[in-house]
Amino acid sequence: PSPFTRYAVLSNTFSNQKTELADIDWDNLGFAFLPTDYMYVMKCSRDGNFSKGELQRFGNIELSPSAGVLNYGQGLFEGLKAYRKEDGSILLFRPEENAQRMRMGAERMCMPSPSIEQFVEAVKATVLANKRWIPPPGKGSLYIRPLLMGSGAVLGLAPAPEYTFLIYVSPVGNYFKEGVAPIHLIVEHELHRATPGGTGGVKTIGNYAAVLKAQSAAKAKGYSDVLYLDCVHKRYLEEVSSCNIFVVKDKIISTPAIKGTILPGITRKSIIDVARSQGFQVMFMLPWRYAQFIENTLILMLVSWMEIVQTYGLVGVNVVEERLVTVDELLDADEVFCTGTAVVVSPVGSITYRGKRVAYGDGGGFGVVSQELYSVLTQLQMGLIEDKMSWTLKL
Ligand code: COI
Repeated sequence: PSPFTRYAVLSNTFSNQKTELADIDWDNLGFAFLPTDYMYVMKCSRDGNFSKGELQRFGNIELSPSAGVLNYGQGLFEGLKAYRKEDGSILLFRPEENAQRMRMGAERMCMPSPSIEQFVEAVKATVLANKRWIPPPGKGSLYIRPLLMGSGAVLGLAPAPEYTFLIYVSPVGNYFKEGVAPIHLIVEHELHRATPGGTGGVKTIGNYAAVLKAQSAAKAKGYSDVLYLDCVHKRYLEEVSSCNIFVVKDKIISTPAIKGTILPGITRKSIIDVARSQGFQVMFMLPWRYAQFIENTLILMLVSWMEIVQTYGLVGVNVVEERLVTVDELLDADEVFCTGTAVVVSPVGSITYRGKRVAYGDGGGFGVVSQELYSVLTQLQMGLIEDKMSWTLKL
């Protein structure tokens, strides 16, 4: 029998028992940890196979002081969200993408990883067991945090002999204290988040510890977060501490290309795909990109205009480029916005670089392009518009 049969039974029981909402203030959720009812734990033995996963009451875990994750940072995490719909069903957003990214990260960090099916089934079981913690529609989401760690004891530097895959969840609202109001970033030009050949492109825990110093200094000065530059040229945009970045100029949307030092965000990818699906054109850096833009624009205007306008009420035809984006391009950008699972799509109100502050928009909120993309993405995630991409998984 499948190792999940037991958890499916368990989670059905939980979901039947706990259909009422938890008694918390749903109107004031921020992004802070709130303990919930159950967590999922699956161990991987020395043979590299994950097997005995189970739902346990949420609580502290026991680790050897010599665990690989504590001593040598052998750990990864993921982040995804579940939304409650008006009809009572629950939607997960692209969980198999997180599963796939964890597998890539595990390969880099010398760890075994759950299969995509194991990952997705475990996420489903954890969400159902904690159903009463999923915010009512429009109030937020249930943030799902899968962890993969070297839990076996090591002393000499080596991969841990045993691994633990664990999922916990917490109800969340907006990530930044600004809510959906624009955030204010400062460009960091001394400390770096990632290096070529390093681990910046995977979701390993150490990448996040590495940004705390710059982030804390920025917050102490009143900034919302830090925007990092590449460590070689100190010129190209990489990402913000917890999210990817997009720059809009003349309706052309640009974002740093994935090249090993930038986390391949699932929201980043979804925003590019949303743009593409609506007739936006993704182009890679080509010398003739403007010629292509004109050509593509004409074709799009002829072929897609009516459908785009009817479906989404778009305000214009845009192009998305994945390329090197220089810090100087921030100076005359029309809009800047961040994307991530936790931050969703956050408009950037200003960026400060070497003492010079550039402000975007009227300071009131989203720009035209980011508003459109935010609106389509969140409606898809919440099941408010037809999911032509088959991105949502209904529980
Ligand atoms: C997420 O967006 O899910 C992340 O993992 C970022 C984290 C720092 C909150």
